[in-house]
Amino acid sequence: MQMSKMATTAEDRKLLHRRTKSTSSVEDKEKLRKQKEAEKDRREFYEKPIHFPSESLFSTGSGYNNYRGVLNLCIVLLVLTTSRVALENLIKYGILIDPVSWVTIFVADPYNWPCVILIACSNIFILASFQLEILLLKGWLSEIVGRWMHVINCVAILVFPASVVLTVEPGPAGASYALFVYTCVFLKTVSYIATNHWLRYQYKSSGQRKAGRRKPTKSVGDAGDANGAEQNLANGKLETQLVTYPDNLTLQDLYSFMLFPTLCYELNFPRTPRIRKRFLLKRLAEMFMLLQLMLGLIQQWIAPLLHNAIKPFVDMDLPMMVERIMKLAIPNHFIWLIFFYWFFHSNLNVLAEITQFADRTFYRDWWNSESVPYFWSNWNIPVYRWCKRHLYQPLMRRGYSKLLGQICVFATSAFFHEYLVSVPLRMFRWWAFMGMLMQVPFAVFVSKFLTGPYGNMAVWVSLIVGQPFAILMYLHDYYVINHLQPPVGQNITNAGL
Ligand SMILES: CC(C)(COP(=O)(O)OP(=O)(O)OC[C@H]1O[C@@H](n2cnc3c(N)ncnc32)[C@H](O)[C@@H]1OP(=O)(O)O)[C@@H](O)C(=O)NCCC(=O)NCCS
Repeated sequence: MQMSKMATTAEDRKLLHRRTKSTSSVEDKEKLRKQKEAEKDRREFYEKPIHFPSESLFSTGSGYNNYRGVLNLCIVLLVLTTSRVALENLIKYGILIDPVSWVTIFVADPYNWPCVILIACSNIFILASFQLEILLLKGWLSEIVGRWMHVINCVAILVFPASVVLTVEPGPAGASYALFVYTCVFLKTVSYIATNHWLRYQYKSSGQRKAGRRKPTKSVGDAGDANGAEQNLANGKLETQLVTYPDNLTLQDLYSFMLFPTLCYELNFPRTPRIRKRFLLKRLAEMFMLLQLMLGLIQQWIAPLLHNAIKPFVDMDLPMMVERIMKLAIPNHFIWLIFFYWFFHSNLNVLAEITQFADRTFYRDWWNSESVPYFWSNWNIPVYRWCKRHLYQPLMRRGYSKLLGQICVFATSAFFHEYLVSVPLRMFRWWAFMGMLMQVPFAVFVSKFLTGPYGNMAVWVSLIVGQPFAILMYLHDYYVINHLQPPVGQNITNAGL
């Protein structure tokens, strides 16, 4: 018993000795490992290279182009400065916004809406062009007589509303809208006549009337449209019912075209299979809210500025005139941007959704324009397509130079800008005409001297400063003629400014 006890004690001691030895070696190993790691860290830390050959971020050679933070800063600065101006405006003028003031235009004289009657009268010219097309198809009118009758009808589309506005003298807002409708009718009618003329020529020259009726006749269209017709759209698979000439010569087809948000006629428009109610409601809400926002901004921000801008313009006080133009430039530009979205996105999409018109390319990325032609080819696609198809390309095909083609297009566009401004205001000052025509030399200047981002900035500056200049010139003249005609012998500069 004692022997076994002694043996156990010796074994325990041995074990204890072994354990103590093994613990200290583990600790040593751990210590050694830690030392090695620290050494390695130190070596990697100090020996790791931290300098490399590189360009500073702002140097063009660095290839750095992520300025999102700077864009955010610009937005913050814009919000802050605009808030300050808004506060200053409120303190100075109080609340000038009257959301229902536009209703007074309609209820002021509820039995006398000359512009509504004028718009309704546009049907006479639409029906006349339709009848002429039928007569030409049946051969009851010769091509030359038919062409002249079309010319007379088209001239009448522009002359008739202008003479009514100049004689009856309705308010400028209603008159502008009526003339805008007539301008659209004119452009659409020209497109309808030109396309049907081409289709009739093809139909008659082929001499295969029956075959012609069955075979889909492709109308003159741009490549973008043709590609679009094969796409699957957000509101379902695209459906196109093919119509052939002369089956398209129906009132339903003509009035569908008149309602579609395009100015170029085609035999077969791309159509959507259904109306998206949620999409339509969203666009309608935008239409209503943005219209109120624009009216509010005009009443609260633009109107006082215009009132204060008249005196420097009457006195021809140059530094103050420049100051007024710059002061008007910002709110005017805000409203123009809102107008762009309101008209080209909300309004035209509403019209397209209701009429199930599938081509929604009403604008492209004009905000990235680095040249003037790029801007004009991308900000108003319906007008651009019309200009290109019915004016520019026919001139190019006849061998005119590109510059001459551009001058013709911009001169036509200048005429319509002047028509839409001068007639409703009953003032012929040529500011809009010149503004549009000057786009050609401005385009040449930008393409020669300003490229890349500088070209983009030049386009923005022309938009921001050019418009308020033209607006101030017109409104100044309108205001002076209509509100500030002083009694005989009184100086105009003292007349209530
Ligand atoms: C003048 C204008 C038509 C020039 O447009 P552009 O796109 O810069 O002109 P381009 O020279 O690049 O060519 C346009 C088209 O004509 C075609 N074209 C050029 N030369 C041609 C020729 N000799 N024969 C046939 N086609 C020709 C091009 O191929 C191109 O067709 P595509 O678009 O199908 O490729 C355009 O700037 C414009 O419409 N401006 C006025 C817009 C306006 O007033 N808007 C008012 C909005 S409120």
